[in-house]
Amino acid sequence: MLELNHSKGSSDISNDEDDNSTNNSKHDFKVTPWEVEGEIDYNKLIAQFGTQPITSEIIERIKQVTGEVHPMLKLQYFFSHRDLDWILNKHEGGESFYLYTGRGPSGMVHIGHMMPWLFTKYIQEKFGSKLLFQLTDDEKFLQTQDRSREEIGHYTYENILDIIAVGFNPDKTKIILDTRHIQHLYPIATEIAKRITFSTAKAVFGFSNSTNIGMIGFPPIQAAPCFLPSIIENKPTPVLIPAAIDQDPYWRVTRDVAERMGYYKPAQIHSKFLPSLGMVGKMSSSKPETALFTIDEPEVIDKKVSAAFTGGQATVALQRQLGGNALGCPVFWYLRYLFDTERQSDERLLKCSSGNLLCGECKSDLSKESQKFLGEFKKRREKAKDVIAEFMFDGAPYEK
Ligand code: TRP
Repeated sequence: MLELNHSKGSSDISNDEDDNSTNNSKHDFKVTPWEVEGEIDYNKLIAQFGTQPITSEIIERIKQVTGEVHPMLKLQYFFSHRDLDWILNKHEGGESFYLYTGRGPSGMVHIGHMMPWLFTKYIQEKFGSKLLFQLTDDEKFLQTQDRSREEIGHYTYENILDIIAVGFNPDKTKIILDTRHIQHLYPIATEIAKRITFSTAKAVFGFSNSTNIGMIGFPPIQAAPCFLPSIIENKPTPVLIPAAIDQDPYWRVTRDVAERMGYYKPAQIHSKFLPSLGMVGKMSSSKPETALFTIDEPEVIDKKVSAAFTGGQATVALQRQLGGNALGCPVFWYLRYLFDTERQSDERLLKCSSGNLLCGECKSDLSKESQKFLGEFKKRREKAKDVIAEFMFDGAPYEK
């Protein structure tokens, strides 16, 4: 397999000295639960956050259960973890673990949001795990001044359809909606909150004097589902959280208090971010024209993909002569992570770099594959409307 990293697509950072500074303008990036900015160096994040890289040994151990290596592991979309080896020990010892993941309902869902969910579904299937899926409508309401409850309520409904459409096992999956199911979280959250000082919260989350106190008090609510399985099962229960790396600060504080509260530390498996179609590396915060949303119509998908930034040269002649920069091309990465087999993708890379592939062809492949994938997704999304209650933690319907 080729060792590729989509954040290293552009050549200007490839021979940079490791100067240990993230303030260097060349690799200035920021990753917090509420802000992801700049050209992210994922290896630096592993060092900064103190997580572990996913090694080939771990992948091999997972393969013993799944029988194959999931593309998101093989292609390093999931690249970092905490205690994943411990989770595998537990599983091998016959102890089952819960999965826990979530979504802040601040907008419609796009393919980037869905990547960790698709992986979560796969782990649920292969390991038979129960899943708690948290919707942090409180967090998204508190986060900015300009979001109304109605707006969040609207996205909550729409996002529930997406979550169900991913295809989680209805017998093993519960959606927790914070404002509605708070009575199940609050007793645990207060136990957690009591053990975290403001000084720790400031250091971990970057809160300042101008942060509203709702946000400052929020982290224990996102931490609480890590311990809920132990309460439901009435014994200490291991939990694995598949999520993008920006959520890691929550798990750091949770892990810190877990053992003092008599629970296991939650384990994590961290994903990268899917680049925007506008540019590799740079994360653009919610520019709708550079993301593929689950509700996009085929023409819209085609238009967005056609307008995508690529690693191609300015003219066909130059492309033939010089070849393209696939590693700096979002179209390449979407195809690699979502639709190409590893072999197809490696071939695509070689053909592109040698000038034997034009951007139009890759765009056409991505457009077709996305239309097919999202077309099927949309059908499942429609069907989801009839089964919402089955998935909710309290078994009650959620009306639009
Ligand atoms: N805070 C997350 C967001 O804004 C939502 C979330 C809640 C979450 N619990 C989680 C994400 C657990 C991953 C894992 O999207």
